Amino acid sequence: MTENPYKIDIQKNSCTYYYTSVSSTMDIARKMSQANCPDNTVVIAKHQHCGRGRMRRQWQSDQGGLYMTWVVRPKMNATQCFAYTFSAALAIVQTLDQLYNITAHVKWPNDVLIDTQKVAGILTETQYLENQFEYLNIGIGLNVNNQINTDAFRAISLNDIVRTHIDLDSIIQTLCKNLLVQFADIRVDQILEKWKVHNCTIGKNVRISLLDHTIEGQAVNIDQNGALVIKLNNGQLETVTYGDCIITGFNIISH
Ligand code: BTN
Repeated sequence: MTENPYKIDIQKNSCTYYYTSVSSTMDIARKMSQANCPDNTVVIAKHQHCGRGRMRRQWQSDQGGLYMTWVVRPKMNATQCFAYTFSAALAIVQTLDQLYNITAHVKWPNDVLIDTQKVAGILTETQYLENQFEYLNIGIGLNVNNQINTDAFRAISLNDIVRTHIDLDSIIQTLCKNLLVQFADIRVDQILEKWKVHNCTIGKNVRISLLDHTIEGQAVNIDQNGALVIKLNNGQLETVTYGDCIITGFNIISH
């Protein structure tokens, strides 16, 4: 059962609702978006009993992790929505560096890794009319003090690295501050440049699971729409906009 949220303004221009336990912060955020909540409404839960990941996977959501959905109402073309997810991933990288001096990397399309292990994932849900957004809901799951079932995928919690109990509130404060700054000034070119600096995908051999088939090759670039450009084993270039990306090996690109 969903408890009544505790509502707080973490900072000017955003409104945050805290819940003890929810099905998924995406569900709550969707209802709020459809009921016309303002830009920068944030839903945070201590626990989710139906946490969702990309490609219809579950997102393990035990106590101790950070589960958040951020509602934005962008005034841009729907094809540029990737700029928000890239921006959110970069805000996580920035937060981990600021608070714990941890170097994390972004992996296409929207994961955050420490070395080769996933510490955070991002899921987006959008509604748009005639190519204009009604809302874009950005779900962020960050493994903090929660223990991960490592059988599921290569994942890690911050607690595995910092080795002491981490103050979830200070992560929330810093991450929200960084997200608010990033979302206030979305410039696609700058975000793409920053993403390239912090990414761990370009130059790697990758396997991409698309809806009905899989392709393999070397990730060689990211295009203006946030799509990954793959050099296939037969030398042809293929651009993928949606899919699951597994890094299978390391390869240096020669320019
Ligand atoms: C992924 O990497 O597959 C994306 C994971 C996104 C998880 C977050 S946790 C907060 C929000 N609520 C959900 O049910 N999912 C997202």
